[in-house]
Formats: sequence, C-alpha cells, structure tokens
Amino acid sequence: MVKYLNRRKMLAIGASALAATKIPGLALAKQADGSFELRAAKNPKKLAGSNFAASDLWLYNGESPGPEIRLKQGQRAQIRFINELDQPTSVHWHGIRIDNAMDGVSGLTQDPVAPGGTFDYDFVVPDSGTFWYHAHHSSWEQVARGLYGPLIVEEANPVVDRRHDFTLVIDDWRLADNGDLHLPSFGSLMDWSHAGRLGNWLTVNGQSQPRFQLNAGENYRLRLINASNARILKIDLKAMDAELLGTDGFLFKKPRTAPSGHVDIAPAQRLDLLINPQRPDNNSQVFPLQEISAGEPLKIADFVVANSKTTRQIKPTILPQNDIEPASIGDAIRVPLLMTGGAMGQLDNITYQGNLLERSDLQRTKQLWAFNGTANLAGSPLFAVKRGQSVVLEAENQTAWPHAMHIHGHHFQILSRNGVHLQNKDWRDTFIIDRDEKVVVAFVADNPGKWLLHCHMLEHAAAGMRTRFDVA
Ligand code: C2O
Ligand code: CU
Repeated sequence: MVKYLNRRKMLAIGASALAATKIPGLALAKQADGSFELRAAKNPKKLAGSNFAASDLWLYNGESPGPEIRLKQGQRAQIRFINELDQPTSVHWHGIRIDNAMDGVSGLTQDPVAPGGTFDYDFVVPDSGTFWYHAHHSSWEQVARGLYGPLIVEEANPVVDRRHDFTLVIDDWRLADNGDLHLPSFGSLMDWSHAGRLGNWLTVNGQSQPRFQLNAGENYRLRLINASNARILKIDLKAMDAELLGTDGFLFKKPRTAPSGHVDIAPAQRLDLLINPQRPDNNSQVFPLQEISAGEPLKIADFVVANSKTTRQIKPTILPQNDIEPASIGDAIRVPLLMTGGAMGQLDNITYQGNLLERSDLQRTKQLWAFNGTANLAGSPLFAVKRGQSVVLEAENQTAWPHAMHIHGHHFQILSRNGVHLQNKDWRDTFIIDRDEKVVVAFVADNPGKWLLHCHMLEHAAAGMRTRFDVA
C-alpha cells in the first residue's frame, strides 16, 4: 500500500500558513497578432505551504491551474501551444463541441506534440459555459502533475457580471510526508486496478483553503471544475444556500434548489452555482465550502461576506440556453457498452490489441478494464454512423467501482438510471455510473470525426477504459 499523509492532518499543518487570497483574475496573455500562447513546462511549486518541499509540477504558463481562457460564445480561439516538457503531449478542450482536428487527442486526432514542438489550435466555441482544458497524452501523469486550466465561454447576456463570476478549479493531489507530490505511486497497479489515483490534499485554484470576498445581497456565480484524476467530489452545499445553475457547461432552463445533502462532481464534471449571501449579523461573516467524500466534512475554501449597501438582488429566473438538438429516440441506434474488469471484477476475457489477455500479461500490459470485452480501443470503432444519426448508449457497469464516462465532441442527455427515467434531462459531457448500475444516455452524433469515449478516472482510461466512435 502507498503510504502518504492523511489529508486532514496535512491540512491542519498547512492551514497556519494561509493568508486571505484574492479572487483569481487569471488571463491569458494576448500576443500582438491576436492569438494566445500556452506553454507546458516543468515548474517546481510548493503545494502544501512554505514549510514543505516543492513538488515537481508540470504546468501551463507556470500556473496551477493554468491561465483562465475566457472567450465569448461563437468566438474563434487561436492558441499557439508550445511543449517545453521532455515528453510528448497534446491539449484537449474538454466539453467543447469542437472541430475534430482540434480535439487534441494525441494518437487519434493529432500526432503528439514532441518536446520542443508547437501546435496551433484554432477553433470556434459554439456553446457558452464552464469548460476546461487539459493534457491528453499520458493524462494519468500529465494531468496529475498540473497540466490543466479553466476555459470559460461567456454568454451574450451573462447571468452575472464579471466581478461576480468565480471559477473554482478543484484538484485532489497525492502528497508524500514531506509535502512533495508522491512520485513513486505514479503508474501503480494498485491505483490502476482500484479507484485510481486518489489524493490527500485538496486545492482550489492551486491553493489550500483560499478565501473569497463576497458582498451581502449580491448574486455570485461559482463555476466548480473537478480536475482530479479520480476523486468524485462530494460538495456539501448546506452552508451556502446555493441554487444549481447547470452542469458540464450547459445551464438548466431555470435555477434549481440544491439538494439538502451533497452534490457529486465526478472527475472532469463541472457544476455552476448561484449564491446570494445574507447580510451578516456582525460586520463580516465566514462560511465554508465543504467536501465530504472522506466521510467527514473537509473545508476546502472560505467565503467572507461583508456588508454592502446593495439591496438584496433578485435571483435570475430563466437562464440562457445553448442551441442543441435532443436525440430522436425512435430513430436512434442502440449501442450497448458493457463495462468489466478491475479489482474484484472479471479480469479474464479481456482482448487487447487482438489477443486475449492471460493473467501473466497483467504486469506487462497493465490492461485491466474493458468495454465490450476489449481494452483500450478495438481495431474498429464502437460504432460508426452518418452525421445526424441519433444514438442511445446503454452503459452497464459490471465492475465493482464507479466510473465517470466522458464522450468527446458531443453533449448528451441522461435518459434513465437502472430503468428509472429521469425527470430532468440535463445536458452533460461526463456521467457517473455506479457499480452494478445501468445508465442510458442519448445524443445526436452531429459532429463529424473520430471521437473518444472513455472513463475520466485517468488510471482507468490508461488501463483499458477507452474506446472510440466515428461520425462520417
Ligand atoms: Cu477531459 Cu478525453 O478528456
Ligand atoms: Cu473508471
């Protein structure tokens, strides 16, 4: 077993070093020719506080998270990517219904960008919302070392103004006793066959327990992004009196009251919230953002509410919608996706690169999970359709673990879970599927190209949970 610091103990040590932090106002430096430059490089950084060791992080433009890229809906992004790492990489724009050639999947939509190489990403963002970008080459290591950042696409008429719009990128790092990123466990068969690389140190915008200043009575939009390799964040909204605005970049038609318990945010998922803090009794008041996946509440950020002269703002009642067509279920093709493998699951009957794996192959191939019996991309796609075809994907999780299934290039609606139809058919690009669960999702395959479909628990993807589909 990997030995690493208990995150509660760690937080207690780290907390004293904290100062109140400002709202992150990250912006990508614009070059003279109107394009952006994004640079991946090694950047040692202290994650746990000044008393601890610096971690060997790999970052975009030297920041953790990478710079916030902000665009307007319909805008064209021109981003020159420069690889200063000593291994190949590529950049994926997660959740964007993007031109396939710009999807950034190394080995499928582009060649990996070699060390010292560059790649010009050039695409239009059709949808507004909360998205993110991350490395898509050895993601299990590159994302865990920090190669990700937020990508925000603003509506023509935003829900709140820029000063009330906060992005909170949450990551779950695994640190060693000295506060350094735990390196020996990278690629561990234990993680790959179980829940993935779970960490012990949660950061929000690269900081431990940052504070955000709010004015009483004003509407704030919080954009939560889970950049963790494997942890399903369980966010406790009790203290916040929050309303839910949307998931995975797409807003609901109307704000929704938050459930009384917690909300799950799987790796790669996003959740947009609206809060309007009450006037404090004293001059100021603090409330926490709490994460409870370890069984007890863990404070990951604070909101400091100050009195203001503003009379309480009315919350929005209707929300801007992206233009997307629901699937036509009657004409849809049905695609079964049987998920098997992993610890405590069936490790036999997995085909990899055309061969049936033996138990003795395990150490060598590290392929442990399968979709429809095949690990890590079959010779032929999971399905191939003409553009405009409706697709109903019927996923069945026969493993002993939950997964976070991501479809590239498309958003889908969840129709049912275990045969129970869902009332709210929210748009998503990543869905959670529990052990023994059946989840049915539907979408129109309207974006031509070769698209990946994989578990976003990045160790699971590396260990077999990847397939693809083709749209002609
Ligand atoms: Cu966010 Cu294929 O990934
Ligand atoms: Cu998984």
